Amino acid sequence: MLRAAVCVSGGGTNLQAILDAMDAGTLTNTEIIAVISNNPGAKALSRARGRGIPALVLSPKDYPDREAFDEAFTAKLCELAPDLIVLAGFLVKIPPQLVARFSNRIINIHPALIPSFCGVGYYGLKVHEKVLERGVKLTGATVHFVNEGMDEGPIIAQKAVQVEETDTPEILQRRVMEQAEWILLPRAMDDFANGRLRVVDGRVRRV
Ligand code: GRF
Repeated sequence: MLRAAVCVSGGGTNLQAILDAMDAGTLTNTEIIAVISNNPGAKALSRARGRGIPALVLSPKDYPDREAFDEAFTAKLCELAPDLIVLAGFLVKIPPQLVARFSNRIINIHPALIPSFCGVGYYGLKVHEKVLERGVKLTGATVHFVNEGMDEGPIIAQKAVQVEETDTPEILQRRVMEQAEWILLPRAMDDFANGRLRVVDGRVRRV
């Protein structure tokens, strides 16, 4: 049974997609051992509590500096000792010491087709604003392993989503969530939980 810890910052729709996939039997061999957020008001925390899942808050604001937060965050995750850390709308940079300890055992969902529209400053609605500004006709989402870079780790899966003429950033964000994020993340977790992912020369192969 895969023990997964899920990190969230906001509404938790990706967390909900994970929980729904577990209920539907499309995400197997997995248990969520904890949900951690930097945002005490995150709706994702109440989604976790509603399912009896331990919901923890660890915020950089509660520490004198980022180094102290990084140490505390790393210590908590090591104490929880998950097999997999899932970043589901988590807006805090993962401490490098945690990435080192959980090499290819941290996954992230990004609301664009990496390497497009990613990196510093590209998160949440901002991604979709830039997509519309550039006028691309296809966008989508990417689930990838997390390394020391920002959105630079080995890509696990991607799914394209059509951009419509009448899209606003909000409409596009919702379509990318519905048609890509909420499908890709549970599927990647199921592949990981059932040993179907291999990282060879920095590229992910599904076996
Ligand atoms: C979504 O845009 C997701 O792509 C990004 O964070 C946003 C909020 O996700 N990673 P959620 O509703 O909190 O899962």
